[in-house]
Amino acid sequence: MVLRKEDLPMVSNAIMNALHEDELELINELHQACQEGNADVVDQLLQLLIQDIEDHFTTEEELMREAEFFAYPMHKAEHDSMRKRIGELLERWRKHKEPKEVQKFIEEELVSWLLLHIARWDATTAEAV
Ligand SMILES: [Fe+2]
Ligand SMILES: [Fe+2]
Repeated sequence: MVLRKEDLPMVSNAIMNALHEDELELINELHQACQEGNADVVDQLLQLLIQDIEDHFTTEEELMREAEFFAYPMHKAEHDSMRKRIGELLERWRKHKEPKEVQKFIEEELVSWLLLHIARWDATTAEAV
């Protein structure tokens, strides 16, 4: 397990918390598949995680637009930077099919990014939407 539920910051919006918890489960499943070196399972779970992240970001962006939240462009820019990183990861995965690369991305980028992003951006946004 690369990400424990206790480590996930809670925000004051139930939809956002639910999105984060779903993502935590997928991240852990994908991380385990990487450790086991099962490329087929990694492939499936990586597609699922990418869809899940897009759904997560889009939902938050809709909430911000509905509430006309002033920091929408900054929060969205944070999402866009992770969208770009995920796109690059997917490209590398398609070329090399190397579970260790995905594992490294989760351990060294995704988990710390997510925890910081939730604490810094989602928490303030949740107060406003
Ligand atoms: Fe979020
Ligand atoms: Fe966010």
